[in-house]
Amino acid sequence: MDDIPLLIDFATPSSIFREHNRVSPLRIIGNGPPGTFVRFPNGLSVSLPTDQIVFADDEGGHARVGFGGMQFIGSEEGQLVFVRVRELVPEDQLSPARSHTMRLDSQWVATVSVDGRPVWPGGSRHSSSPCTSADTWEDISSKQEVAMRIGIIGAGMIGATLAKLWVDAGHEVRLASRHPENLKELVERLGARASAGTPTDAATFGDVVMLTVPLKALPDLARDLAPALDGKIVLDTSNAYERRDGDLATQASGHARGSAGWAAAMFRGSRWVKAFNTVYFKTLETEAHRKGDRVGIPLAGDDPAALETAAALTRDAGFDPVVVGPLERGTEFEPDTPPYNTGKSGRELRTLFAAAG
Ligand SMILES: NC(=O)c1ccc[n+]([C@@H]2O[C@H](COP(=O)([O-])OP(=O)(O)OC[C@H]3O[C@@H](n4cnc5c(N)ncnc54)[C@H](OP(=O)(O)O)[C@@H]3O)[C@@H](O)[C@H]2O)c1
Repeated sequence: MDDIPLLIDFATPSSIFREHNRVSPLRIIGNGPPGTFVRFPNGLSVSLPTDQIVFADDEGGHARVGFGGMQFIGSEEGQLVFVRVRELVPEDQLSPARSHTMRLDSQWVATVSVDGRPVWPGGSRHSSSPCTSADTWEDISSKQEVAMRIGIIGAGMIGATLAKLWVDAGHEVRLASRHPENLKELVERLGARASAGTPTDAATFGDVVMLTVPLKALPDLARDLAPALDGKIVLDTSNAYERRDGDLATQASGHARGSAGWAAAMFRGSRWVKAFNTVYFKTLETEAHRKGDRVGIPLAGDDPAALETAAALTRDAGFDPVVVGPLERGTEFEPDTPPYNTGKSGRELRTLFAAAG
């Protein structure tokens, strides 16, 4: 316990579901990798920055969560505010999709101590109230998300459709084509959070960059943009069609790690995620944020933080992210596979991929 600088005791009678080695038996209901949630019996879930959890148990009837690397900033409008200490995790390893600030409603918290010294509540002891907050996970997670800058290379059917969904979700987008002057009307329609530029502009602008061009354009783009995309998360929507992409389609589909593996090999420093390739753009347009089970978007990639970001952006666009696995599993959702262009919900896709995997 000595090496745990910050310990939060949650109010009784809450009890924590313990999480071991970051592998949670709990259903993951929000963004973040397994092990990110403290989930209370009444259904309340609190998102925690996983890489900072060092200790969690339900000793003495309290949920207690210890952190290395979070700093308690104070209380603000009934919420306790904690920020991540960036020195402990290099900036480039922090997920850009998530806030580095955690806010907890003070009614959930009994005490906060730093190095064994209580720092909250100050003065008189806080009378802990049961966890009866009506806050849902969606409420909590939406408070944690932050606006991102998204470069979209390819302003066609998919690029323009997702640009609108992300602008509506509060993100900033820069759309690119070989003729950015033709995108003026589109970005005016999208509003102040949208702009147009060259592919290089969009690659430089984005924290995340979506490549959504015909697959045959990828080798030329790699030659021009691979250095600018080094270290960046790239969402690749492309599909290989011989009719359109000729021999390159054959090469890409024949690659051992599928067409996304073929593309990723040309952008070696990028954090590649195969995303948004299975759903017809009209479906994206009309089914975003629908009530009930949302349309599922399969995702595959080798970088967990990049997948986490892709999943958060999928949710922001109004769909249900389904993380299938490493990039090579992208072969399971290419054209002519069972999930392709079916509009299946996330729930249906999970069943399908579980059966396949
Ligand atoms: N349409 C769908 O419903 C759908 C669904 C899932 C996946 N996909 C896949 O997603 C990708 C994009 O599809 P889409 O239907 O949106 O395509 P699209 O409507 O034909 O648009 C392609 C865009 O890419 C740009 N582009 C083409 N070559 C380029 C290059 N060398 N450099 C920069 N920009 C270039 C085009 O603009 P300029 O010509 O002005 O440069 C255009 O804005 C494809 O691989 C497709 O198979 C499509």
